[in-house]
Amino acid sequence: MAKIVKLISKNCGNIKPGSVEDYVKAGGYAGLRKAMKMEPLEIIEEVKKSNLMGRGGAAYPTGKKWEQAYANQSKPEYVVCNGDEGEPGTFKDRLILSQDPLRLIEGMTIAAYVFKIKEGYIYVRGEYLDLQDTIDSAIKNAVKANYLGDNILGSGFSFNIQVVWGAGAYVCGENTALLESIEGKSGRPRKKPPFLTQVGLHQAPTLLQNVETYSNISYIVEHGGEEYQSYGTEFSGGTKLVCLSGNVVNRGVYEIPFGTPIKEIIYEIGGGIPDGRKLKFVQLGGSSGACFTEEKLDTPMCYKSLRDNGLKLGSGALLVVDDSSCVIDFVKCITEFFIHESCGKCTPCREGNTRIYEILDKFSEGKAKKEDIDELNKISKIMKNASFCGLGQAATTALNDCLRYMKDEFLEHIEGHCRAGVCSMSGKEK
Ligand SMILES: Cc1cc2nc3c(=O)[nH]c(=O)nc-3n(C[C@H](O)[C@H](O)[C@H](O)COP(=O)(O)O)c2cc1C
Ligand code: SF4
Repeated sequence: MAKIVKLISKNCGNIKPGSVEDYVKAGGYAGLRKAMKMEPLEIIEEVKKSNLMGRGGAAYPTGKKWEQAYANQSKPEYVVCNGDEGEPGTFKDRLILSQDPLRLIEGMTIAAYVFKIKEGYIYVRGEYLDLQDTIDSAIKNAVKANYLGDNILGSGFSFNIQVVWGAGAYVCGENTALLESIEGKSGRPRKKPPFLTQVGLHQAPTLLQNVETYSNISYIVEHGGEEYQSYGTEFSGGTKLVCLSGNVVNRGVYEIPFGTPIKEIIYEIGGGIPDGRKLKFVQLGGSSGACFTEEKLDTPMCYKSLRDNGLKLGSGALLVVDDSSCVIDFVKCITEFFIHESCGKCTPCREGNTRIYEILDKFSEGKAKKEDIDELNKISKIMKNASFCGLGQAATTALNDCLRYMKDEFLEHIEGHCRAGVCSMSGKEK
């Protein structure tokens, strides 16, 4: 039976967002107070024990990142939070930013304390400008209550946070493009290595994590890494904020323990598919994520189990698609998104997405031939292998999976028909 566990979402909807009084009453800042009595390496050890993987999509172990950064001769000089959240179907960081921003601020402050960092940045996507007052007032209130700013809680440690607003580019979620954007340049990815913990913001070593990642830190420090880990599985510690959207009854953000099967999330927490329709496929991790059908639904949400099944958790978005949707239209919609979001720096991504869209359009028009499937596979392979950053490399993940699991429907379009209720080929709507 699927359960919802509220470790980092427990305050959401229950306290006044950004009120230090409410946050502390709900147990907030116990993590920072405890951290200030610990040695930096002890804190890093707890983060390692927690098995917390970065929640921004790449799933790099947070404890390992901190340990490596700490071992560097030049320690990080900036703490940066990635709140770009541009992945379609992903709105979990928004939950924290809008409902419990002090949890994020506390996590960043603990990270800053570990490395004795004085300056932090929260980079938020431009589309979340409605959260400006909430985030600003949370920072102001934390400074006023001496949890942020100069000489925090009389410890001699000082740390300040600035908020930087993006202008609505998906690629600015890529960590190096994000730093370029903070520096006032156009948001285009840098070459890696060097990695951010060596050369980051203003060329200085930088610690960058996702909103959800930082938001787990105070719980881990307060309760210990082992306790946090025990909520999840051996390979995936703790809980995950999952965003359910699409053709599902209960859409929303749910905090689930790692190990919960995808099927239970969709049918028990999500209430299943509405209007008596059948599930066609699921996309996991946003528009750059994998698509799969019924047979993989029993896979537990756990980094290892997903990997063993050829899947990735990505941002944690679960998009449910029912049998009324046309698979060609779905992939076209995703390709349109990537055409719009490609920064244009490299040819495979800039040109590849457009060429793929043109071919897909032939399927919609009933003018495609079997060779067009080979052409789609060929362009996709080039993009995956030769694109400069993760955007181009992952842009055709959905296309590849749809071709793998639903090739019949591509062939049907070649023959001039579509089984779905809604399809742009005929404009039909059942
Ligand atoms: C095109 C692209 C977009 C990305 N968008 C985001 C994003 O919106 N938020 C995020 O946290 N990470 C995003 N990432 C991943 C970041 O580059 C980085 O791995 C992550 O922020 C590191 O934090 P974490 O270790 O806490 O996950 C994106 C990566 C790519 C390639
Ligand atoms: S893959 Fe290339 S063109 Fe696409 S966003 Fe990355 S750098 Fe820009």
